[in-house]
Amino acid sequence: MKIALDGPAGAGKSTLAKALAKRCGYTYINTGALYRAFTLKTLNEALDIDDEDVLRKALDEVRMEIEGDNVYLDGNNVKDQIYTPFIDQNISKIASNPTIRQYMSALQKKMADETENVIMEGRDIATVVMPEADIKFFITATVEERARRRMKQNEEKNIFHTYEDTLKDILYRDERDTKRKFAPLMMTKDSIVIDNTGKTLEETIEEMIWIMQKKK
Ligand code: DC
Repeated sequence: MKIALDGPAGAGKSTLAKALAKRCGYTYINTGALYRAFTLKTLNEALDIDDEDVLRKALDEVRMEIEGDNVYLDGNNVKDQIYTPFIDQNISKIASNPTIRQYMSALQKKMADETENVIMEGRDIATVVMPEADIKFFITATVEERARRRMKQNEEKNIFHTYEDTLKDILYRDERDTKRKFAPLMMTKDSIVIDNTGKTLEETIEEMIWIMQKKK
């Protein structure tokens, strides 16, 4: 079974996707990690992505792999370097570039095709990467709850930002994710909306498993 999991930043997609994959024995693929890894590359190498030749060369040469939580960029595990406010602040430019999106969706489609039972998380999984998915979950929560969760996640990594700054960052990314010209974040007609505001992880997982069982 192929499961698409889309939704805005901080909605709890990764936590849910990981827990679901573990419970059901599915492969978990986090496509945001690929956008993050490529953002890291452009920053580390000071690449000018507005220069189409520079960008094409970087995309031709880059190697990106995902294995559970581990993300490999040109052979190095970068999972501890890609979840930082600095990457958050620079990623929208990467994610709104049509050449990069085209490359990413082709790579992600290939990953999905090669995996029998997959839970793929992102923003355009149901609309672009796996429109044929058996279930399309759209995970959401209020913006205030998402900001609180993101703040807690950052604090666990010793990154301390105020609630106001975190909220501003989430609102900024919502705006960029939903309004961008290419593959904006949106629901499909057959998306199943899971609003997990005020719900525990276990409650939401149960709800999703129930939907999956009905589909089998
Ligand atoms: O899920 P995340 O917060 O790690 O994603 C990081 C950014 O990558 C997010 O701001 C939007 C972008 N993204 C995207 O445009 N398409 C995807 N399929 C996954 C992520």
